[in-house]
Amino acid sequence: MIRRDAGPTVVVGGGIIGLSIAYELVRRGRTPVVLDATPRGETGETATRVAAGMLAPASEADDEPAAVVALGRDSLARYPAFVGAVERDSERSCGYRDDGTLWIAVNRDEDAELERLMRAQARHGLDVRKLDAAAVRDLEPHVTPRAVGGMLAPGDHSVDPRRLAEALALAVRRGGGTIHAGWCVDRIEPSPVDDAGWRVGGTEGGWRNSVDAAEVVVAAGARVTAAIEWIGASPGCEVRPVRGEVVRLRGAPLVERSIRTPRIYLVPRTDGELVIGATTEERGFDADPTAGGTMDLLRHAFVAVPGVYDLVFAEVSAGWRPATVDHIPVIDRLAPGLFAAIGHYRNGILLAPATAQLLAEFVVGGERPPALERFAVDRFRSEGGNP
Ligand code: GLY
Repeated sequence: MIRRDAGPTVVVGGGIIGLSIAYELVRRGRTPVVLDATPRGETGETATRVAAGMLAPASEADDEPAAVVALGRDSLARYPAFVGAVERDSERSCGYRDDGTLWIAVNRDEDAELERLMRAQARHGLDVRKLDAAAVRDLEPHVTPRAVGGMLAPGDHSVDPRRLAEALALAVRRGGGTIHAGWCVDRIEPSPVDDAGWRVGGTEGGWRNSVDAAEVVVAAGARVTAAIEWIGASPGCEVRPVRGEVVRLRGAPLVERSIRTPRIYLVPRTDGELVIGATTEERGFDADPTAGGTMDLLRHAFVAVPGVYDLVFAEVSAGWRPATVDHIPVIDRLAPGLFAAIGHYRNGILLAPATAQLLAEFVVGGERPPALERFAVDRFRSEGGNP
């Protein structure tokens, strides 16, 4: 039994998952304390800051385990109400768009790849439509005249992750929650003063500190198991960083909806930003963007939408997708009062509302919602740590 007087609910991690969970806890009457490793006023190359914000269960379906596609569809269905509530509580826009994704193929090989992708999407029951070259150009006149065909995923949406994170943080604070910046957690241990709670230790602005908590939710992105020894040693909780480089351009809008090719994606924002992503690299925590990564992204973007040539270069950044061994998140209770929402890999932004609402129900109600069964950590604990 968790004693509520053992302290607040502490959320470790101030990215999209941690903030969304904190927000859903606030909506359920809690006043969570968020410990965010990024120092105040600094941006940090976190997955949330670097992410393009595609909400695209259809477009990512080919590479994803079925459980992730299903949770992605569930989460996408929750998005309009989730964003509506965050915008109401923060009085900020989150840059939510529901224009769909247009896939394009510039040669027969890519067109055949789209046919194969469509079959994978159909297996997941997703709504996608094949288009000929003329239909592609009707929809998006700035797409290359070399496009030989395409595919429309009308159900894919997008959001601006930076705006959403800022709005969530504001809504959490307004609802009575607290967010501490520059707080790097490295220990989570049973409380020495209260056997019902946990002690969360680490450094705040370089100084050792600790917080006693009734419950802890760990949502610390790619660094979670490198930084928190106890979590890292817990079977199934190993998370590795999968680097992604992203380029941001600015200028007159060229496309209305997200554009994808088998190589890249371009996500437009209402304010004229165009986000081009992303590389997929196993390079540890190397934060420096490379000339090669930037060149590849721009080259493929130029092939898909030649008008990008005239846009203004705004930013290049690299972040880390947090990946578990099976590329399925762990959203579970690890021990009484200790929860984890980790390893969201390519889909952290998409999966945020479902993860946050289901985990908040688990924390507050004490029973694991059936929708979280596939995300239990037990799957790693049966035969030597592999699912
Ligand atoms: N979800 C897109 C990416 O991870 O690049």
